[in-house]
Amino acid sequence: MSKVKLAVIGAGRQCTKSLMPGIPYIETLDLVAVCDLQQELAERNARNFGARAAYTDIEKMLAEARPEACMVVGPPQMHLDIGLRVLEAGCHLFVEKPTAPTVEGARKLAELSVKKGLVGQVGHMMRHAGPVRIAEELSKSEGFGKLLSVESKYTTWPTGALPADSGWGNSDEDWSYMLVQGGHPIDLLRHFLGEVARVSAFRCHGQKNAKVYQATLEGQDGRVGFLNLQDSFNGWYTGLELVGDGKAVVRVDDLGRVTYRTGKRMNEAARAFWGNDTQVWEPHHTLSAWERTGYGNQLRHFADCILNKKAPYPSLVDGWKNLVVARAILDSIAQRKTIEAPQETLAV
Ligand SMILES: NC(=O)c1ccc[n+]([C@@H]2O[C@H](COP(=O)([O-])OP(=O)(O)OC[C@H]3O[C@@H](n4cnc5c(N)ncnc54)[C@H](O)[C@@H]3O)[C@@H](O)[C@H]2O)c1
Repeated sequence: MSKVKLAVIGAGRQCTKSLMPGIPYIETLDLVAVCDLQQELAERNARNFGARAAYTDIEKMLAEARPEACMVVGPPQMHLDIGLRVLEAGCHLFVEKPTAPTVEGARKLAELSVKKGLVGQVGHMMRHAGPVRIAEELSKSEGFGKLLSVESKYTTWPTGALPADSGWGNSDEDWSYMLVQGGHPIDLLRHFLGEVARVSAFRCHGQKNAKVYQATLEGQDGRVGFLNLQDSFNGWYTGLELVGDGKAVVRVDDLGRVTYRTGKRMNEAARAFWGNDTQVWEPHHTLSAWERTGYGNQLRHFADCILNKKAPYPSLVDGWKNLVVARAILDSIAQRKTIEAPQETLAV
């Protein structure tokens, strides 16, 4: 079987806990190297996940390990700087979110991947989560009808403004939230809604960085979306709801339970009463986090796109457009009105 020679750059928390555990199980990936400025982290992850070599210097790694693809996982300024370098070196790129600290930076990275004809993918893994894939297939089934609306709900810990020297850009509290958290629910919404035409958003602030953002969005084809972003709770949970015009609604809670409502009655007894009959799918308790959440599936998809010359999703263009929508949400809040989302195109 053909394999993609992959190098990992940045062996911190996210890489170690969520991304690398899936790699030994992905038969289309051949892990050639791990690189981190901290030698012990590079060596630890090379040893634990089966890489042939560990490096602290990216140039040395590119020259010696000669990877075909790199996975870059660090602060967003590193995503941009090393992402550009990796693409310049002719390697396909998988980069964690956000792809850059600014909309302009994200655009630059997207442009280079397109110009070079290389696979560029961003780690908004929720599109690839098993339960989301189940919901997506249901939303394309005959009984579901036309998709009318998408609701994406995301609840996380309060995010404060990130320090200027942290590699997250000189970001205020709102933009820090969009970089750290908001990109995920926006990406999931765009996966189903497509390009966003208009945005109307509100924000309410509480104590100690607690806040909520609620936004209604209109897609270019008239379908509607709702983002319910709650940066207020000491934990993480998510919700996705898709409404079709074929009397069907599908919901995914916490990247776990999938609920499908079609209005069909289960049996005679159920037909005799008002009630909601539903079909439910739940993940098996033995599934690991990288299997259920999409962390593993997204890397399998990355390898598949390289080997079979397919366009990846979410691409670096998506990573950029998610930040364009995030900025439009904040602009709508600041201007207290519905705004037209910028319809920018890449200069390639
Ligand atoms: N998709 C998700 O669900 C999700 C969840 C958490 C974090 N993340 C993203 O993962 C990224 C990393 O977060 P983290 O918590 O793992 O950070 P971290 O600080 O734990 O890890 C970053 C690592 O990168 C290394 N590094 C920095 N510059 C480098 C360079 N030039 N060359 C080589 N190595 C370098 C650091 O030494 C460090 O080990 C963030 O951008 C974050 O947004 C994504």
